[in-house]
Amino acid sequence: MNLFGKKEEDEDNIKKQALTNTLGIDLGTLNTVVAKPSGDKFDLFKIPSVVAVKKEEPSYVLAVGDEAKAMLGRTPEDIIAVRPLRMGVIESIAQAKALLVYAMEQGSADSMENIDRIVIGIPGDASEVEKKAVEEIGEEAGSSFVLVISEGLAGAIGAGLPIAEAEGTMVIDLGAGSSDIVVISLGGITDIETIRQGGDNIDENIVEKVKEMFNVEIGIHEAEKAKMEVGMVHSQAKIKPLVTHAIGKSMETNKPQKVDIDSNLVADAAEPIVIDLIGALSAVLERMSPELISGIYNRTIVVGGTSQLKGLKERIFEEVGVPVEISDDPMTVVAKGAAIVAAEPRALEPEVRLKAMK
Ligand SMILES: Nc1ncnc2c1ncn2[C@@H]1O[C@H](COP(=O)(O)OP(=O)(O)OP(=O)(O)O)[C@@H](O)[C@H]1O
Ligand SMILES: [Mg+2]
Repeated sequence: MNLFGKKEEDEDNIKKQALTNTLGIDLGTLNTVVAKPSGDKFDLFKIPSVVAVKKEEPSYVLAVGDEAKAMLGRTPEDIIAVRPLRMGVIESIAQAKALLVYAMEQGSADSMENIDRIVIGIPGDASEVEKKAVEEIGEEAGSSFVLVISEGLAGAIGAGLPIAEAEGTMVIDLGAGSSDIVVISLGGITDIETIRQGGDNIDENIVEKVKEMFNVEIGIHEAEKAKMEVGMVHSQAKIKPLVTHAIGKSMETNKPQKVDIDSNLVADAAEPIVIDLIGALSAVLERMSPELISGIYNRTIVVGGTSQLKGLKERIFEEVGVPVEISDDPMTVVAKGAAIVAAEPRALEPEVRLKAMK
């Protein structure tokens, strides 16, 4: 097996060419992020992972991204907006392909034809079938070479962690549909734990809590908005709770009703997910050698949109004793890491590159 799953001579040829058109893509449940290297920076494109399809023919994609989102609720009933990924995994190949083609178009405004290489981050516990599907979609979408790597590894590279060292680093990626814990040492993944739960589940729990407390039904987007505004997890840290409000539908009168949503309500809604995360972290630590423990003690980073909940850093330390750093760039760091590998596959050293595909 070699890096790109292609013949050796193909790989040699591509190495000789200047790779000017490379992209890193984070194919997420909620957001797909494209990073295109531009000097020592990146051009970034964020696309909602949503497509509009015909209800009766869900592989017929009418619009992608913001355009698909804008069609929501304003279109005839036979058109629906759906997400091609669920819990970090591709639900519909046709829809995911449409999303990826669109993402590649955004990232290569002038020449789709000439995309030399794309690197796509997918959940670390993805099956061989899922990996193959993503690779094939990337190739069909027009890239000469596609490399699929674990989101966790891409996140570590994007965050500038020293992945090639033996001491070990840990990345906790808290997304919308899944939460990954990835331990990296000598450039490879030495342990991984994935929970197919994330920010989406918190939103669902907020909807339920509001129903219970106020007898009011709020929409899932209202719940997400409130979470982003006042989001917190329970911890011993002294965090002043904030309050926001949401408009829902009274289940008694069917009239619009305003409800207050405070940080404690969100923390209650997040608690089951936090407990699962702590359980997964404890399992990883239990399996970890003392050598790696000292490495990850100094180098654990939390990425992904859900990492922005207040009190998370403190709660993780209280529960498992690992000091963590919350990324200051949580939503694009995976795509950046993928873009670094796309532009320079030697970012992963030869023996390391193969491990990235494991
Ligand atoms: N400020 C915030 N506070 C709390 N949660 C937030 C905040 N901003 C975004 N989120 C949540 O982060 C999640 C999206 O994060 P991200 O873009 O990393 O997910 P994704 O990569 O699409 O999903 P996955 O990795 O599971 O496939 C959503 O659940 C969103 O509500
Ligand atoms: Mg993600």
